[in-house]
Amino acid sequence: MEITNVSEYEAIAKQKLPKMAFDYYASGAEDQWTLQENRNAFSRILFRPRILIDVSKIDLTTTVLGFKISMPIMIAPTAFQKMAHPEGEYATARAASAAGTIMTLSSWATSSVEEVASTGPGIRFFQLYVYKDRNVVAQLVRRAERAGFKAIALTVDTPILGRREADIKNRFTLPPFLTLKNFEGLDLGKMDKADDSGLASYVSGQIDRTLSWKDVKWLQTITKLPILVKGVLTAEDTRIAIQSGAAGIIVSNHGARQLDYVPATISALEEVVKAAEGRLPVFLDGGVRRGTDVFKALALGASGIFIGRPVVFSLAAEGEAGVRNVLRMLREEFELTMALSGCTSLKDITRDHIVTDWDQPRILPRALPRL
Ligand SMILES: Cc1cc2nc3c(=O)[nH]c(=O)nc-3n(C[C@H](O)[C@H](O)[C@H](O)COP(=O)(O)O)c2cc1C
Repeated sequence: MEITNVSEYEAIAKQKLPKMAFDYYASGAEDQWTLQENRNAFSRILFRPRILIDVSKIDLTTTVLGFKISMPIMIAPTAFQKMAHPEGEYATARAASAAGTIMTLSSWATSSVEEVASTGPGIRFFQLYVYKDRNVVAQLVRRAERAGFKAIALTVDTPILGRREADIKNRFTLPPFLTLKNFEGLDLGKMDKADDSGLASYVSGQIDRTLSWKDVKWLQTITKLPILVKGVLTAEDTRIAIQSGAAGIIVSNHGARQLDYVPATISALEEVVKAAEGRLPVFLDGGVRRGTDVFKALALGASGIFIGRPVVFSLAAEGEAGVRNVLRMLREEFELTMALSGCTSLKDITRDHIVTDWDQPRILPRALPRL
């Protein structure tokens, strides 16, 4: 069957993957309210398209931290991609590079930073989880830097793993032939089976719950790479991120896998954008499945978006070709949205091109009363 949109890959992945793997990719935390809301909130934002504008040429290119990319659609870090497809992170890296966009590699990738770098040229960011053993962190950051990664996305929403009940029921663990490849040489590459989620146990053993803003400063003493703070949802934390020397912010709720009942990221975005006051770029991930979603995020002030699950689902279905197809479909839909809204470049996209349910009701001109 022909695939005509990004969301269709989920059902194919479900058929192809073992239940334990599919559930790990698909699920959210607890009641999965935020998981649904990440999608639903997009559907409550409507367009105010402008008409009769020459849209024969549309420019989707943009610059992220000084790097020119083909479109404001990038790849979020998702762990364990070889569980979806034997080529895993290699396939994702090649697809991102072919599309001219950025891939973020997870700390918990099943391919190492060096292996991913060996796939060829491409602009790549490295997502960092901070381990209790800071020597491990320092070594890994150095390796990422040496392998040519251009920024660190510091994940700040995971001092403890969120409660993902499917993983608990499945006793989730990595298949025996896979490891957390970046940590293999450090003797931290194996995830043991536990009597709940193996990943939750791994996190509670290795990840540093004391992580705080002073560590954002510490990170800057061990690397020159720009730091994106991934997991900000409030104006308060946006201001502290700026003071702490962050190069950018990713508004993220970890794909609704951490704290349930936080708002959809698209609902939190504008608060963060306002607090940022243009001092650093703000990005978004969470629930982006359509070109219209990309447009809505940009209209609310995002400099770009990242996709998570669409990558692992398309990887499971078709490997590299699947990820390429996801990036192509989103690109085409986004371009179409721009054309039909009367925008020919990203700077044309404004707040007035959308209406949200938190906007003041617009005063419509009324017929004048007859005297
Ligand atoms: C299967 C899966 C694995 C993930 N692994 C990581 C990870 O290793 N590090 C991280 O910072 N975020 C991780 N995330 C969160 C994503 O980076 C991103 O925030 C989220 O997937 C975006 O939402 P979306 O899946 O609706 O596009 C993961 C998400 C999923 C679905």
